[in-house]
Amino acid sequence: EKGGYRHFMLKEIHEQPKAIKDTMTGRIAKDSDAIRLDDIKLTAEDLARFGKIFIVACGTAYHAGLAGKYLIEHLAKIPVEVDVASEFRYRNPLVDEKTLVIIISQSGETLDTFAALKEAKGKGARILSVVNVVGSSIARESHDVLYTWAGPEIAVASTKAYTTQIIALYEIALHMADLKGTLSKEAIKAIKDEMLNLPAKIEKALGNKEEIQKFASKNSGEKDVFFIGRGLDYAVALEGSLKLKEISYIHSDAYAAGELKHGPIALIEEGTVVIALMAQHELYEKMLSNVKEVKARGAYVFAIAKEGNREVETIADQTLYIPEVSDMLSPTVTVIPLQLLAYYMAVEKGCDVDMPRNLAKSVTVE
Ligand code: M6R
Repeated sequence: EKGGYRHFMLKEIHEQPKAIKDTMTGRIAKDSDAIRLDDIKLTAEDLARFGKIFIVACGTAYHAGLAGKYLIEHLAKIPVEVDVASEFRYRNPLVDEKTLVIIISQSGETLDTFAALKEAKGKGARILSVVNVVGSSIARESHDVLYTWAGPEIAVASTKAYTTQIIALYEIALHMADLKGTLSKEAIKAIKDEMLNLPAKIEKALGNKEEIQKFASKNSGEKDVFFIGRGLDYAVALEGSLKLKEISYIHSDAYAAGELKHGPIALIEEGTVVIALMAQHELYEKMLSNVKEVKARGAYVFAIAKEGNREVETIADQTLYIPEVSDMLSPTVTVIPLQLLAYYMAVEKGCDVDMPRNLAKSVTVE
């Protein structure tokens, strides 16, 4: 049942190229210039009415939502606020008939997320959900559903659900951009073509385990690990940090690299492990400065950069390269080494990877 893999998590990590491909099938095609999202019934008039979009979710799905904010704001030019469901539902959010709420959930059964949906729906919001489990409670209560085709996810730590949620969010953002006319047909086509290449790039990233295993065998005894990144890399850093703490029980935090000086850099001392995400071309130079800052305080830096950006090698203690991919399309590729890193750290420590302590796959209580 684990398909020859030692754990469900490792199997699911390797299923990502296929899961992503399946989530694009019938929606993103080479030969047509449009995005086909037959399941969702948003019109140009609807979009003109929505002054604001909320994305609401928990845990990993929330982290996918943080990336979704960048994508929708960047491509479709609609302001997006992202909130964790347990906060959103109790803070009396400013939601009305002019609001679109995008709910993200793998299981479709997370209690706080479902309650947030009902809260927003009761106030007249239009609900579009991104769900993996067909016919789940969240799917049934939503006005529109865009399914991720990740297949069953068994491991408590979410992997293929995250990457397919991000793909669904590209689809939504592109669909909105198409309806609103914020992107030219050529620009949409260029993004679609690059999306269709993502499975191959992820496959390539999956083949690159040596540096990660080396890192895990050296650092699995660490008490704290810090992740830093900027822009979309910051959203991915949060996910990498959650994955690590969830299955290896190592304390970790993720920071927007520009925030280091505002407090967290006080924690850096000789040997502190910092994982620096450097997959955003536009922010690469800024990240180089941040890496120098933590190195100067004695940090052990593991950098994750794109092929071609080799300068970091001269500063970082270890560097892992991911295949070249544009800044906007990078999260599904950048997260791969972080998933593997969490996995190998947990294996090194002898943790129960698929069933980490204190956690349930689907959180149906408050
Ligand atoms: O089923 P959902 O997507 O609604 O679940 C949300 C979170 O409980 C889930 O992503 C959780 O954070 C994972 N264990 C993270 O790996």
